[in-house]
Amino acid sequence: MSLLPILRYPDPRLNKVAKPVTVFDERLKTLVNDMAETMYAAPGIGLAAPQVDVHEQIIVIDVSEERNQLQALINPEIVTASAEKALFDEGCLSVPGIYEEVERPARVTVRAQDINGDFFEIRAEGLMAVCLQHEIDHLKGFMFVDYLSQLKRNRIKTRMLKEEREKKKEKAKGTGKKR
Ligand code: NI
Repeated sequence: MSLLPILRYPDPRLNKVAKPVTVFDERLKTLVNDMAETMYAAPGIGLAAPQVDVHEQIIVIDVSEERNQLQALINPEIVTASAEKALFDEGCLSVPGIYEEVERPARVTVRAQDINGDFFEIRAEGLMAVCLQHEIDHLKGFMFVDYLSQLKRNRIKTRMLKEEREKKKEKAKGTGKKR
């Protein structure tokens, strides 16, 4: 297993549309394991393959307190979404340190395949519903910040780019500290 580098907003690779997975082999299992390890290490509650520069329809999620309920969804699709909406504070491993309220359908049904290619359905509400929708958006090249006003999005972009520049400077000086 290995940790994968996570792309940071506004990296344009985060806007690529992911392709469906057609081969359910050892490579897929290794990738899912590496994505799970990367998510737990971050730590985060969900990770989509485009965030680690793999543009395929794969997400991993664990919203449990105990961090022991890993779900891998291959080719996930929202089949039903409630008319009722809910507001949640969202964050993203590709936009570290930023949390903003986003409104989404309160309940969703998602159809997906497991790592063997077998189909299953999840009916979710609360945090799990938010996480599923957030991660499935990543597969479409869409980020939670895209729901915010342009003013907010620009502020976030500026902050992310500034942090990136500072990191590079620190590295160049050889005084880079791990946070
Ligand atoms: Ni995200």
